[in-house]
Amino acid sequence: MVKLIGKNKINCAVFISGRGSNLKSILKYSKKKSSKIIVKLVISNKCNVPGITFAKKKKINFKIINYKNIKSAEKKIMNFLKKNKIKLVCLAGFMKILSKSFIRKFGNKIINIHPSLLPKYKGLNTHERAIKNNEKYSGCTVHFVNEKLDSGKIIIQKKIKILKNDTPKNLEKRILKEENKLYPKAISKVLIRI
Ligand code: GRF
Repeated sequence: MVKLIGKNKINCAVFISGRGSNLKSILKYSKKKSSKIIVKLVISNKCNVPGITFAKKKKINFKIINYKNIKSAEKKIMNFLKKNKIKLVCLAGFMKILSKSFIRKFGNKIINIHPSLLPKYKGLNTHERAIKNNEKYSGCTVHFVNEKLDSGKIIIQKKIKILKNDTPKNLEKRILKEENKLYPKAISKVLIRI
């Protein structure tokens, strides 16, 4: 849990690599009076992606990180987090794996969204695998990030039915809609006012 003092909002950074639909929904939530965050910073390892176009349009401070060398990339990111007094990191389609030392340094303050009902289907291609295995349900999960991929403590999940004729594409579409609603709920849940 991340503690909030009084009515102040905390600074949050969203890490992306692409489309940015969760970034959009987090930003929308942050603008609500009742929200507990300000989206101060967007970090991306890619420059020409819709999420960055959106950040530019909304005038959110963003940084493109060259990931050729992971150590120096993470050092740069950590400095930006410190400079912007970031108290919560939201991974939203960030396609790089954070190192153990980065995660340890930032404490229990990094959360991620994953398009499956964890602990099932960690990693990539979740929808294909769920359909192939004839699962009745799939969904999405927001969880704390720990040192193992998609394995941290679960904060919140949304379950949806897999339909008879579902393809990975349309299942993804339906789940993404739920993701966009779930992420703000998860943020609100992990931030505790004291
Ligand atoms: C989402 O499906 C999320 O669960 C996964 O990556 C995708 C990101 O989508 N980790 P978007 O960029 O937020 O639209």
